[in-house]
Amino acid sequence: MPADKKLRIGVLGAANIARNFTAALRGSDKVDVCAVASRDAAKAAAFAAEVGIMQSFGSYEAMLADPSIEAVYNPLPNNLHAEWTIKAADAGKHVLCEKPFAANAAEAKAMFDAAKRNNVIVVEAYPYRAQPQTIKLAQLLREGAIGKVQFVQASFGFPLAMGSNIRWDAALAGGALMDAGSYPVSLVRMIAGERPVRAHAMARFAEGASGGTGVDRTLLGTLDFPGGALAQIACSFGTSRHRTALIVGDAGTIETTFYNDTSDKLPPTLVIRRGIALDAPRETIVCDAAAGFRAQGEAFHDLLRHGWSQWPGATPDETLDIMLAIDALAASARSGSAVSIVA
Ligand SMILES: NC(=O)c1ccc[n+]([C@@H]2O[C@H](COP(=O)([O-])OP(=O)(O)OC[C@H]3O[C@@H](n4cnc5c(N)ncnc54)[C@H](OP(=O)(O)O)[C@@H]3O)[C@@H](O)[C@H]2O)c1
Repeated sequence: MPADKKLRIGVLGAANIARNFTAALRGSDKVDVCAVASRDAAKAAAFAAEVGIMQSFGSYEAMLADPSIEAVYNPLPNNLHAEWTIKAADAGKHVLCEKPFAANAAEAKAMFDAAKRNNVIVVEAYPYRAQPQTIKLAQLLREGAIGKVQFVQASFGFPLAMGSNIRWDAALAGGALMDAGSYPVSLVRMIAGERPVRAHAMARFAEGASGGTGVDRTLLGTLDFPGGALAQIACSFGTSRHRTALIVGDAGTIETTFYNDTSDKLPPTLVIRRGIALDAPRETIVCDAAAGFRAQGEAFHDLLRHGWSQWPGATPDETLDIMLAIDALAASARSGSAVSIVA
């Protein structure tokens, strides 16, 4: 495969988020979003015309059977990520699969097994990981800019009206933890650099108290990392919009946002305080803004052409740990007890 060959990628499902994905990659030298498949041929054709995709298919199977498509973007509802990622891998396609990667860790393992047996690459989509801001954060932590990390607090919430949205549907593996919470869980996993061993969570559910049948609307959880760090994550469908993190080391602190897309916002910053004194100077590091979906799509191209050293996103090990942590947080929120995380 020539190292500069453009990646032809097809979209599974005329999903809302596929509009952002396609728009961000328009004009890219590395990625051609060349096809969309829907369960409904007319819907696929209308979507293709709307967003400027050349080819449309009236079934997911038909797109997977097309040998000219090298990779697939999977933004289906969460309960279908595993089924269609495995079918895509079995059809010889690489897959960029939306977060949360799967409905649970067992599915995630099966997806990576499928990638291995078909010699293709399957990864989870987290556009914020390709942001210069996140890459700089990881570099500062590696350099020990705030010493050894003791704890992290990371939170993502937004208001979501009750309705037919896939996020409110338990059968589609919805809920605040799966949808919004996967972000802070992924961030704290990236910062800790290891699998957590224990989780404890509390939640408010859409239908009544803990133990109800509805999805979680707001969830707060704690993760215990064997290297010593603790993390608190929070997520909600009932708050004002925010996506912030505080990382506290034994020699300083970093405050940051972790947006997917920073191209339409004020330049993203990392606010770092080096030292233990309350009046230690605060430095604001201004990072380049970026369209995260484009940065991630092009990084996916680089991963396929040049290997893992070019991939700023979640590795399969990280993704598996994220799903294990989500499973344990969800179980803890339902049971009220701390849950051990066992692979
Ligand atoms: N990275 C991010 O920033 C980001 C942002 C938003 C969403 N996401 C993720 O992307 C995925 C899709 O989210 P979305 O908001 O774009 O969803 P959406 O608009 O509801 O689209 C989901 C698509 O899945 C297909 N589908 C197949 N079976 C379905 C079923 N039983 N019910 C509903 N849809 C079904 C439909 O396509 P057809 O009818 O064409 O087959 C539908 O258009 C989720 O996993 C979500 O977590 C990520």
